Order: sequence, then C-alpha cells, then structure tokens
Amino acid sequence: MSTPSLLILPGDGIGPEVMTEVARVIEWFGQKRGMAFDLSEDLVGGAAYDAHGVPLADKTMEKAQAVDAVLLGAVGGPNYDTLDFSLKPERGLLRLRKEMDLFANLRPAQCFDALADFSSLKRDVVAGLDIMIVRELTSGVYFGEPRGIFEEGNERVGINTQRYTESEIDRVARAAFELARKRSNRVCSMEKANVMESGVLWREVVTRVQDADYADVALSHMYADAGAMQLCRWPKQFDVIVTDNLFGDLLSDAAAMLTGSLGMLPSASLGAPMANGRPKALYEPVHGSAPDIAGQGKANPIACILSFAMALRYSFDRGEEASRLEAAVERVLAEGKRTPDLLGEEGATPVTTAQMGDAILAALDESL
Ligand code: IPM
Ligand code: MG
Repeated sequence: MSTPSLLILPGDGIGPEVMTEVARVIEWFGQKRGMAFDLSEDLVGGAAYDAHGVPLADKTMEKAQAVDAVLLGAVGGPNYDTLDFSLKPERGLLRLRKEMDLFANLRPAQCFDALADFSSLKRDVVAGLDIMIVRELTSGVYFGEPRGIFEEGNERVGINTQRYTESEIDRVARAAFELARKRSNRVCSMEKANVMESGVLWREVVTRVQDADYADVALSHMYADAGAMQLCRWPKQFDVIVTDNLFGDLLSDAAAMLTGSLGMLPSASLGAPMANGRPKALYEPVHGSAPDIAGQGKANPIACILSFAMALRYSFDRGEEASRLEAAVERVLAEGKRTPDLLGEEGATPVTTAQMGDAILAALDESL
C-alpha cells in the first residue's frame, strides 16, 4: 500500500498548540516505528476565514476528500462571534463532516485510573469506565431544512428541523452494532420517541436492523433525557450508546466530564469506505478551541494525541501501535503529570502543553 496521507488542520485557539504535540508524536512513529505518513497542513475555521474570507476554502475541502485521514484541532473564537452564520468557524467543520459524509462519530469515554478521583463523580462510579458514544453526524437538526430566522407577523421566528431518513438511521445503527461486537456486545439507543416522530422512526429502524442482522447484540432503548440521568447515575451500565446528532453532542460532553476533563476525549468521524478500503475519516478532540487559555501552554494535548491513536486504529489498521500510544498516555498520567485542567489532587506535577508532549514521547521511548 502507498504511504498513508494525513491532512492536518490545526484550526483556532488551542488547536495549533495541541497539534504541535501531535506532530511530535507522529514524527516519533515515523522514526521509531517506521510508519511514514505523507503529511500536509492547511487552515480551517477562523484561521481560514482570516486568510481566505471563508471558514474552509474549496481547495482545502478537495484535499480533505483526497487524503486517507484528516486530523483537526479545534475551531472557533470570540473574534468571529458577530460573523454571519455561514461564515462562522464552526461551519468549516460542519462542511467537512457533511461533504465527506462522516455519518458515524465515535466518542469513547474512558476513565484512566489515575484520574478517577478527579471526576466530579465518586471513584467507584467512574473507575474503569469504558463506554463508546456513536453520534450520528451528518443529519438531524444540524442540517435539516427548513432552517433560518424568518419574519412572521410582527416578530421573527427561528426554525430548525429535526429530520432523519430510514437509511441514515440504518447506517449509523449498523456502525454501532459492529462496534459493540468488538466490545461487550451491548447497544443502548437514545432518542425522544415519546415526543418526536423522528424518535419513533429512529427506534423502529434500530430495532429492525438488530432483528435482521445483529440478533447476537443486546439492544436496549432509552429516552435521551433519562439516558443523560443514567450517564451520571451509573455510567458503567453502558457499552455502546447510539444516538442522533444533537443528543450525541450533549451526551458526549456529559460523558467526557465523567472521565475528569474534556481535555482527555478523542473522537473519530467515519464515513463509507474509499476505493482503497479505508473509511473516509476525520479525527478530532471533543473539546473546543478554549480561546481563554490559548497560547499560554495550558492546554491539555491528550485528547488530540488520543485522536491520532484512533486514526492509527481505524484508518491505518495499526491497533497495536494505537494501544502503545494509549498506554504511554496512561503511564504519564499515572506518574502524576497534569496540565492545569487536571490539577487539584495532592502530589500532582503541573506541566505545560509541551512538557506533557515531552513526557508522552519519553513514555513511548520506554515502550520499545
Ligand atoms: C462538537 C462541537 C461541534 C458540534 C461544534 C464546534 C460545531 O460541539 O464537535 O461536539 O456542535 O458538533
Ligand atoms: Mg459538542
């Protein structure tokens, strides 16, 4: 197979500084594990707007379509708050997701043992937690038409539309069942079938897919509000959660916090297989651009580094190297190294973004 290609889009806020650490990790795998990547870099979000007047240039979109995987930092910032909706940094990310048709967003929430006391929940509730949220990413209320702010009589009305086709539900359900088979074989589907027709259809299609092709996987259903409550009450009851775009956005932030910090969570957004068999793919941390701490060496690079680990696993078929990287992160956390988002316990050693990168590289060296 030809050298795998990777497009790096650092984006805004803390995106560039966490990506600097990921670049060092990528270089390490090149030098020490003989894994060469054909790397390119480009702009997205506010950075792209500043350079080109749009949050994602067409030529960047073309590059993203052509590579084996995209690695993205974060988008957004206060400078862009007053821009027209179509020009906001977030639209750059949404365009990538939509045009690459990345319908399955995998958001694992794993609690590293060293951080179990850092969670806002009690240790026994989160220790050993390992769940996977599969969020539908290319449809639902994020993209449904009609949408907009319209005049109605003597006032305005804001409209968004929740819309799901059977095939959109079918394909994300299959992604969840396939993942469950490699884990603990359980899927919980979340919607609001009690109040939304789209939720009724969601439940029906997920059930049908399971009946037809995944009878070996245990399926349960929950209303998304109850699901949010159960995530806080006893998250270890879940294995794979499959849900729509908006509920997935909310539930994954909540799940992230169970693990101690939003600075820890990676994600993979996967689409249909390309001609070479690899899925279309974009990897990004779940956290945002955190403009309040940008440029101060305070950002936690772990979520972005673990996103690269997911790329190794899901795009490049190097699960053992992904595990090596995850183990290196775990080791550094066990040593007590903490970026400011993780500080608070006794005996922790405060480190900067770059020092966290140094420590992870050292742990990788020791893994050889
Ligand atoms: C996420 C983010 C995005 C979303 C924003 C930045 C558009 O919150 O990836 O969870 O809402 O999907
Ligand atoms: Mg979000």
